[in-house]
Amino acid sequence: MSSSAKDSKPDKKKDDAVDALAAQIDQIHVTERTTPPPPEEDSPLHKIAHWIQHHGQILVLTGAGVSVAAGIPDFRSPGTGLYDNLQKYNLPYPEAVFDVDFYRRHPQPFVSLAQEIWPGIHYAPTLTHAFVTLLHRKDLLLRNYSQNIDGLEYLAQLPAEQLVECHGHFRSAKCIQCFRKAEIEAVRTSMVQEAKVPICPHCRSYVKPDIVFFGESLPDRFHTLLSQDLPVAKVCLILGTSLQVAPVSLIPEKVGPHCKRILLNKERVGNMDDSDRDVFYEGDCDDTILELAQILGWEQELRALHKQAKQDMKRAVEKKKKEG
Ligand code: OAD
Repeated sequence: MSSSAKDSKPDKKKDDAVDALAAQIDQIHVTERTTPPPPEEDSPLHKIAHWIQHHGQILVLTGAGVSVAAGIPDFRSPGTGLYDNLQKYNLPYPEAVFDVDFYRRHPQPFVSLAQEIWPGIHYAPTLTHAFVTLLHRKDLLLRNYSQNIDGLEYLAQLPAEQLVECHGHFRSAKCIQCFRKAEIEAVRTSMVQEAKVPICPHCRSYVKPDIVFFGESLPDRFHTLLSQDLPVAKVCLILGTSLQVAPVSLIPEKVGPHCKRILLNKERVGNMDDSDRDVFYEGDCDDTILELAQILGWEQELRALHKQAKQDMKRAVEKKKKEG
């Protein structure tokens, strides 16, 4: 038997296998990527994903940047931020619009602004809001300390006990002098529909929604829960804030020495530079959150939760329309 005759059978088998493989490869269609490719294994995002998944007890600290993708401007971004766009109110300085002493003397600028920013059902939660809710559903969230007054955390289905609205909200109101509670619907009608300053029926001073103005204390709930949460937080996830307003801006400095600190923001802020426990990832927080969700294998759940929140809003808008 010649060597060529001896090898002919196995070679044929090989050729058949190669042909079969080629046919299979022909069947594979390269689909266009709709999402960015996952970053390299040793990237900062993989480190962040690892911390998120393996440490738990995540204290999330959010600011106006997380709502920018919803269409709500932040406060301090040059050009687009609210404080660069208040010229029409002739304020002595932009933050005066949220200053309680200024409101006592000149309430009208805040009343006009309230007409624009009073939360309704105009804005839907962002992917970042949905991610915080997902952390809660996975039992990884310790608490979300939010500086925002837009209420989008609720629309993203975050339970009230998981949320601290550090700078208050528009769901209740009181007099700035005698602190008696005011009926919120009447305050809303006065400010939003009539452009009038609501007056306290008891002391004739001005009423305002329970947003924390400069010169006012933060809610008791903030101090109570923070003192419980700081010692047990294992990760501090900071999203979309300039960290310029105390006492919230001090949270990253007050967490325990072993607590990991992650900053996802358009710019580096604060003073975290301990390479063993700090990571800063620059960029739009929704983009970063999506990449993180891909690494964590949570993308579908995240998108589904976000879609659900938007559908709930759509239903609420339709219901409101029907009610007239
Ligand atoms: P700021 O406007 O001060 O900061 C927003 C931060 O988010 C900035 O660092 C931006 O670069 C960043 N940012 C903007 N868009 C972003 C995006 N899409 N992705 C990631 N980062 C983004 O807002 P806060 O820090 O929330 O008080 O401001 C704190 C407090 O100051 C507010 O709660 C408000 C204000 O006076 C009250 O309303 C009482």
